Amino acid sequence: MDDDTPDEVFAELKSRPIGGWGVAQIAAGTGLAVYAMWAGILQPGFRKVPLKLQVPYIPASRAQVQNVMTLLRGRQGGLVDLGSGDGRIVLEAHRRGFSPAVGYELNPWLVRLARFYAWRAGHHGKVSYRREDLWKVDLTKCKNITVFLAPSVLSLLQEKLEAELPDDALVVAGRFPFPDWKPCIIEGHGVDRAWAYSVQAQRQHTVNKNNNLTTTESLLQ
Ligand SMILES: C[S@@+](CC[C@H](N)C(=O)[O-])C[C@H]1O[C@@H](n2cnc3c(N)ncnc32)[C@H](O)[C@@H]1O
Repeated sequence: MDDDTPDEVFAELKSRPIGGWGVAQIAAGTGLAVYAMWAGILQPGFRKVPLKLQVPYIPASRAQVQNVMTLLRGRQGGLVDLGSGDGRIVLEAHRRGFSPAVGYELNPWLVRLARFYAWRAGHHGKVSYRREDLWKVDLTKCKNITVFLAPSVLSLLQEKLEAELPDDALVVAGRFPFPDWKPCIIEGHGVDRAWAYSVQAQRQHTVNKNNNLTTTESLLQ
């Protein structure tokens, strides 16, 4: 049996050309590792969610959280973060007096992580992270809602929010605005920007739009 030292083995490996087969093996290994991480850590819980509604986990930056909190200034009561990730928005909302502060998140690892962060910050039991599909959550009693999601789902989410939220609710969207809504305030710049929407103003806007459409149609007949 050869009794080469690890240094000798490493030096020999370094001096050997990798070749096409080696490159293919490295590429396959890397691809497998990335897939395992995506399937096992980032996307579990999403099997029942249609592909076009799946939103990956990208945590809000410190500036984004700050902008969201600025838009929520003066508001009271409970807060719900739809797709709460590691729970940073919920935790900050709780620190600023929102109660109950609740996050809905499908990824069980992120729910655990959020609970751990809350415990580490000394707020265990004061914030709530629920492993639930945000599309199935009843929002009829929510007054303050935050969403950091992808443009592909915002159009559908608009409909759910407009159908369920009470008139005095405020919705704050981070990173991407709702496609058809008119924000009442905008805070921040570039990727850190956040948009606040008054549900009552939004409903009025939709009614006016529909009335204008009806008038135009009757004039055309
Ligand atoms: C862009 S991240 C935002 C995380 C967090 N709100 C933040 O700002 O740091 C979107 C999160 O929504 C979660 N998510 C996506 N679709 C969901 C669904 N149908 N129900 C619950 N959570 C969902 C993802 O797992 C991900 O953690």
